[in-house]
Amino acid sequence: MCGIIGTIGRGEAAPLVLEGLRRLEYRGYDSAGIATLVDGRILRRRAEGKLNHLADLLATDPIAGTTGIGHTRWATHGAPVERNAHPIATDRVAIVHNGIIENFADLRTELTAAGYAFTSDTDTEAVAMLLTREMENGATPQEAVARTLRRLHGAFAVAIIFAGYPELLICARRGSPVAVGYGEGEMYVGSDALALAPLTQRICYLDEGDWAVLSATGAQVYDSEDRPVDRPIKLTALSGAMIGKGNHRHFMHKEICEQPAVIGDTLSAFVNPTSRSVVLQDLPFDLAKISRVTIVACGTSFHSALVAKYWFEKLARMPVEVDIASEFRYRAADMPEGGLALFISQSGETADTLAALRYAKSQGQYIAVLVNQPESSMVREADVMLQTLCGPEIGVASTKAFTAQLAVLACFAIAMARARGKIDALREAELTTALSEVPSRIAEVLADEPAIEVLGKSLIEARDVLYLGRGTAYPLALEGALKLKELSYIHAEGYAAGEMKHGPIALVDENTPVVVLAPSDAYFDKTMSNISEVIARDGPVILITDEAGAAHAPAQAKVIVAPTCDPLIAPLVFAVPLQLLAYQVGVFRGADVDQPRNLAKSVTVE
Ligand code: F6R
Repeated sequence: MCGIIGTIGRGEAAPLVLEGLRRLEYRGYDSAGIATLVDGRILRRRAEGKLNHLADLLATDPIAGTTGIGHTRWATHGAPVERNAHPIATDRVAIVHNGIIENFADLRTELTAAGYAFTSDTDTEAVAMLLTREMENGATPQEAVARTLRRLHGAFAVAIIFAGYPELLICARRGSPVAVGYGEGEMYVGSDALALAPLTQRICYLDEGDWAVLSATGAQVYDSEDRPVDRPIKLTALSGAMIGKGNHRHFMHKEICEQPAVIGDTLSAFVNPTSRSVVLQDLPFDLAKISRVTIVACGTSFHSALVAKYWFEKLARMPVEVDIASEFRYRAADMPEGGLALFISQSGETADTLAALRYAKSQGQYIAVLVNQPESSMVREADVMLQTLCGPEIGVASTKAFTAQLAVLACFAIAMARARGKIDALREAELTTALSEVPSRIAEVLADEPAIEVLGKSLIEARDVLYLGRGTAYPLALEGALKLKELSYIHAEGYAAGEMKHGPIALVDENTPVVVLAPSDAYFDKTMSNISEVIARDGPVILITDEAGAAHAPAQAKVIVAPTCDPLIAPLVFAVPLQLLAYQVGVFRGADVDQPRNLAKSVTVE
């Protein structure tokens, strides 16, 4: 949420920062800006809207300088207009900021009373003014930063440059991540390693409360008590080559199509194909003795948690509680001794999920995280990391991370079932064999994209769409509706099929398409009854089912035939037609499917 990047060194800063911002644009894209130092003075270019606007501005009005910072914004305080775009600057400092300064209003009152005139509506400007006041009172940049950080409440990452100090860039982290990159005679700072991937793979992650002073040749990190500390420099596995679109029109399409490969990679880390058993790393707890599993996540990751609940309960007979992270935190629930709390987050940075993790830790739970980013904040605070091997997901709406999360969760449920003696080796072998078929089944769905495209066209005029499913297809219905909302801006809601008659059916008429997910499983007949109820009210139906199901489809329904598969893997396979459908509708409607309006990847504010 908001991307920050900075460089200090030999080369021209602006082009390098602009390229870095392109890699960070998925974190926010309502305005962007760059500041550099030229002859000791701060120069700034900022533009409203997508990064292209800033690029156009820089093309006509370039800025020089070898020290620079840049920002791509997801607005929190102040409208997405140029005045509020970062870098926020005074004649002394320029700052880029990700996060929220919670006490900004008090600071603003104090500084206004002291004669400082604010020109933006941002919380960030209070930080710029505090720094400026310190420096006007004779503080060095380092002293100004140390004193200013002590005045700030909230979660943030910042990068700052200082007029008159061309050899200096300072960054700080509290809550939001900051990566410092080591180049050859050049240093970098970024919101994540992805931003720095083509520049360097030598990365140092700041710890909570750290701040760092960068020159062209190195960095000195200080902890929250301003003591010099050494933080390890790690080699990130990310490389610049992983972040292209390939031959695809959109990142999202590329990522949907990557699913057979990334699920294959992910499964190969969890399933031994010879013994056909699940292999987990050594765990610091005994799976057989876990008293309860609590799974917490947000958005799409929450939907994968809901699917997992069915698996843990059915296969492992394990009591499971699932909640969205923001509400879980506010419930202050007592958590049982010997409980396992599992946090699912593609980014590993989502603020609400991280806060929920800390709460569960305070309740003495074992902490496991399921992430796609092994170098993320959640991993640093967990006892166990389970990783999806998806590579970077650039499309803001999650696709491949979702199905890969499901793959890992299925493995974890199988391992727990086995540890608790609820399934035997033979059943485990059957289940892992079913899982190993996921990549091929998804490839079959992808081959059917032209048919799904045709059905996508039939939805482009819809104002509202309902999604229905039973069992594990219910969370998929929620996910299908979320994807359609995000990608096409059509209002969509997902419901448990059995709930339709308790209210949502009032919405059904000839103008409200209903997408029904119904693999031919134990619930198929009941869901077919719901379809009849929709058709009786003239509701257009798109039925996503398998071959056996299609044979029973009513003539009025348009049908997407997914491959026949084991019920365990149906959620992974059926997710893909939902993604393609939403993608196609979005593309037909001319929406920006990679960067839907108002959204940001990695939601680091609460
Ligand atoms: C929707 C989507 C979001 C994320 C949510 C949690 O397509 O991507 O709903 O799933 O913001 O993000 P992570 O998984 O990074 O915690």
